[in-house]
Amino acid sequence: MLEVTILTKKYETADIVSFELGKADGSALPAFEAGSHIDVKVNENLLRQYSLCNSPKRHQTYKIAVLKDANSRGGSLTVHKTFEIGDSIQISPPRNLFPLNKDSQRTLLFAGGIGITPLLSMAQVLNELGKEFELHYFARSKTSTAFYEELNSLPFASKIFFHFDDENDKKDSAIRHALDQENPLNKTAHLYTCGPNGFMDYIFTTARSLGWKNDNLHKEVFNAESIVLDDSDKSFTLNLVRSGISLEIPADKTVLEVLEDADIEIDASCEQGVCGTCLTKVVKGVPDHRDQFLTECEKSLNNQFTPCCSRALTDSLSIDL
Ligand code: FES
Repeated sequence: MLEVTILTKKYETADIVSFELGKADGSALPAFEAGSHIDVKVNENLLRQYSLCNSPKRHQTYKIAVLKDANSRGGSLTVHKTFEIGDSIQISPPRNLFPLNKDSQRTLLFAGGIGITPLLSMAQVLNELGKEFELHYFARSKTSTAFYEELNSLPFASKIFFHFDDENDKKDSAIRHALDQENPLNKTAHLYTCGPNGFMDYIFTTARSLGWKNDNLHKEVFNAESIVLDDSDKSFTLNLVRSGISLEIPADKTVLEVLEDADIEIDASCEQGVCGTCLTKVVKGVPDHRDQFLTECEKSLNNQFTPCCSRALTDSLSIDL
């Protein structure tokens, strides 16, 4: 982890606060690529992921924005209430699970609400590279739109299109127009979206219906909804092969929770099956994969799984721990 100081704290809207983070001695932070996120240590037991929204060119500091989430499991509320200018906090070096194809002739960016953060960094890179792009930003209203003034004053403001729910905006036709495959540049364009899952699914479904190929569609998934438990979950036995320990995983607990209860340490970060930090080798048994980190092909091999959210389809699962 890196120790950084909170240099600024600014309310972008009533529910979104941005922070600029930097080294106390003013030295540069590690370089990063557009689309990267950092883990922020919110308290002793809580890590949360936030996208970097500044230009990678200016990595003297990192900028993040945090939405106060009504369904917060503690992360965003704590950040809003307790993080203050001058505080030292711990963050991970940036990691990129949402890389930008900088060779694409044309790029379309679709942000839903706080999903603007990684796309804002991408837009700055595309502008610096002189690339053809559009940033479409969907929000409930102007007052709930983070960075509204800042975006309007950027040199590429003409490439930013706002769509507000309360202004009777014809969103659907705007999306279809931007994605139209009659535009020859769209044949090879890449699309990036970040926001609520329903929003991203809608963008993807529309793009596919207009002929876009899956290879050109990219979405940020680390803010995934909790996929941890459902009513039909069953208990199973977890065998830790190297330690020679067997644990019962009850229906209402994740493997990670049971391991933590038993004081067995395992690295974890998102706890939502997105980051891959907890990935563990499976020796025997068939996992019930519930993550969004492994590809379908990797899942079908059944030789690794994510204990933070995945379970077992067999009565027991033996893992390399
Ligand atoms: Fe992120 Fe398990 S902790 S995938």
